[in-house]
Amino acid sequence: MKTAFQDIPDEYKIDSLLHQSTYLVNGELKHWEGETAEVYSTISSTKEYKTTVLGTIPQLGEAEALEALDSATSAYNKGQGLWPTMKVIDRIACMEKFVEEMKTKREEVVKLLMWEIGKNLPDSQKEFDRTVDYIYDTIEAYKQIDRDSAKFEKSSGVYAHIRRGPLGVVLCLGPYNYPLNETFTLLIPALIMGNPVVFKPAKIGVLLISPLLEAFQKSFPKGVVNIVYGRGRVLATPIMQSGKVDVLALIGNSKSANALQAQHPKGNRLRMVLGLEAKNPAIILPDADLDLAVEECIAGTLSFNGQRCTALKVIYVHESVVEEFNRLFAFKVDQLKFGNPWEAGAKLTPLPEIEKPGYIQELIDDAKEKGAKILNKKGGETTENFIFPAVLYPVTKDMRVFKEEQFGPVVPVVSFSDIEEPLHDMAESNYGQQVSLFGQNVHTLSPLIDTLVNLVCRVNLNSSCQRGPDVYPFTGRKDSAYGTLSVHDALRSFSIRTFVASKDNAYNNAILKELLEKKTSNFISTDYIL
Ligand code: G3H
Repeated sequence: MKTAFQDIPDEYKIDSLLHQSTYLVNGELKHWEGETAEVYSTISSTKEYKTTVLGTIPQLGEAEALEALDSATSAYNKGQGLWPTMKVIDRIACMEKFVEEMKTKREEVVKLLMWEIGKNLPDSQKEFDRTVDYIYDTIEAYKQIDRDSAKFEKSSGVYAHIRRGPLGVVLCLGPYNYPLNETFTLLIPALIMGNPVVFKPAKIGVLLISPLLEAFQKSFPKGVVNIVYGRGRVLATPIMQSGKVDVLALIGNSKSANALQAQHPKGNRLRMVLGLEAKNPAIILPDADLDLAVEECIAGTLSFNGQRCTALKVIYVHESVVEEFNRLFAFKVDQLKFGNPWEAGAKLTPLPEIEKPGYIQELIDDAKEKGAKILNKKGGETTENFIFPAVLYPVTKDMRVFKEEQFGPVVPVVSFSDIEEPLHDMAESNYGQQVSLFGQNVHTLSPLIDTLVNLVCRVNLNSSCQRGPDVYPFTGRKDSAYGTLSVHDALRSFSIRTFVASKDNAYNNAILKELLEKKTSNFISTDYIL
């Protein structure tokens, strides 16, 4: 297979480099004159393969990390800061201003998504649009939460005005596969609930934040959003060791999450919102509609080259249908078009991690040594920035591809004779995010569903695993997540119930009445936000 070089359409050509020479701290886009790092794409711009340089980013050090942390701490200002004490309606206004500004940057961000992480054009556009929708939906959900708390309750002679308040300083770290969307599904709810944030963009997928820096700066009070660039370890270590982080918000892997968590001197004070790795299985029962199962498994295993935490990473097929499934599936995999992200119909695209093809090759070699075969003709064909997905069968438990989260284009197929086999493996697994279950007999499905919901957090019936729609809970058991994200749940995860209570007597009631009439408190309010 040849490198899929084609002439790059003018609108997607890299004709100037993006030198990100500032970072956002204390409301200021501060100029950086120190060390920088090149940002490159594994996509070639020339016929002769060569990675493409896209620009540079600052390599900030410990001093700048602590500067950003101080900026966020001052914005919280022991609970007295403008942002945490602001009226809900005013915080919403800041967010609305931000999203309006953000929308004007769609083209720039989409182009960088394609170059930096190799996501195809429709999916890059979807990532941007889905993020904008997420912000609007978050605003609506927050309004609803606020309306529901715009009242007083009374129990045992005590009045209570209960709301959700911010938690404090949030350190936010996102993943490279959804460097905009998943990062913002942490950042946006954290901010709107009144928390100041220190945000370090992902290692890959970093320049695409640049077009949004000014929007952040203009839309929020100083110190509320701080954006730093550099190596995760250099920046996040001193920030965590300071003990001043109240919430660690991370979508990535459990190894990083555990390491960061361990650095906080007061573990009990650290709250966490984590979306971590997974090894979601598909289970194909004897009576499954195989065409449908193949179609869903193609999308499930190989959308964005399998680089999704929700991707199907192992397929269990009942022995009675495994031959037929493999034939149909392997054929369909070979029909997937590989190309650069802007090429029409490109379903498979260059891998942004330079070492990934080599890693996938290792998994294939290991599986072959232990008895698996590559079922599809193109499986394992490599170019400089890609390895064509190999469908591996029969996969057994001693193979690396069975145990490791491949996060890339290789599909292990396991055959089973007794449903207890996949159920046992899932119970033994370190992960517990989702499963796809293919079949139709309700008497077979029912007990399975009743068990699977206790092993994972979403059972997808005759459909591939996915995070969306974003209003549904996105979470996992074991090493797959900590806390729940959805438009509504994220607002809860980044806040805490806090309230004003007063004994029911004439003295207190007169004060409460005056507080409400004069609207002097931003917290005590029964206003209904439209
Ligand atoms: O990387 C994990 C993402 O949450 C997957 O989201 O299912 O919408 O692709 P998705």
